[in-house]
Amino acid sequence: MTPPSSLKRRHFVQLSTLAAGAALLPGQGPAAEAAKTLPPAPAPPAPAPPAPALPLLPYAFAALEPHIDAKTMEIHHGKHHAAYIAGLAAALAKAPELAAQALEKLLAGLPEVADETLRAPLRNHGGGHWNHSFFWQTLAPAAKSGEPSEELAVAITATFASMDGFKKAFGEAAAKRFGSGWAWLIVQDGKLKITSTPNQDNPLMKGITADADLGTPILGLDVWEHAYYLHYQNRRPDYIAAWWNVINWPEVSKRFGAL
Ligand SMILES: [Fe+2]
Repeated sequence: MTPPSSLKRRHFVQLSTLAAGAALLPGQGPAAEAAKTLPPAPAPPAPAPPAPALPLLPYAFAALEPHIDAKTMEIHHGKHHAAYIAGLAAALAKAPELAAQALEKLLAGLPEVADETLRAPLRNHGGGHWNHSFFWQTLAPAAKSGEPSEELAVAITATFASMDGFKKAFGEAAAKRFGSGWAWLIVQDGKLKITSTPNQDNPLMKGITADADLGTPILGLDVWEHAYYLHYQNRRPDYIAAWWNVINWPEVSKRFGAL
């Protein structure tokens, strides 16, 4: 047999390589056949949800003066709120299945958390984080405080007879909250209602807050001493009176209009 020329030898090698490659096309060959019998690879683990973080204030510490002083705002935000976040993060680190939930959902389902050593910090620190995040958003410098929307003003007048009637009732709820807590304006079954909760509880906490006080907050006032004591000392009523000047009414109205 005549040996192949160099050109023919090259074609022979190329053809041989192609033939070998064809034998190993994807989905063919022993390795592929073995892979078909293996169970599918497990899905990669879901990424860990982000840890709760301190939200930036939408204004400077001094922006609410003279009604709420800069030092109080700095400590309230940077120390107190930050401490609630640290406590919440520590609790969620023990319950990663809860960490994936929205905070509102977690707070509304606290009675379902069977472990009391977990439920208590979630209630106190989770509530503290939600309440303060909400509080910062509903404050604004006095020059930007604005007015309630027409829709909200009509609802306030229909419920409390007048804006002054609303302020009087809300101020009483805030002043009479014994110890530490919050006063709230909530929407409950489509209607406005004033309520109050102790400590860091809030109107979202089903099974913890009384059913009569559950609803969606649109305005809230922190009456913990840490919110006012540096400037107002024991004069909580003076703090409450000053707070009316720095309510972010456009934000409150937006929340009301969204319900
Ligand atoms: Fe506070």
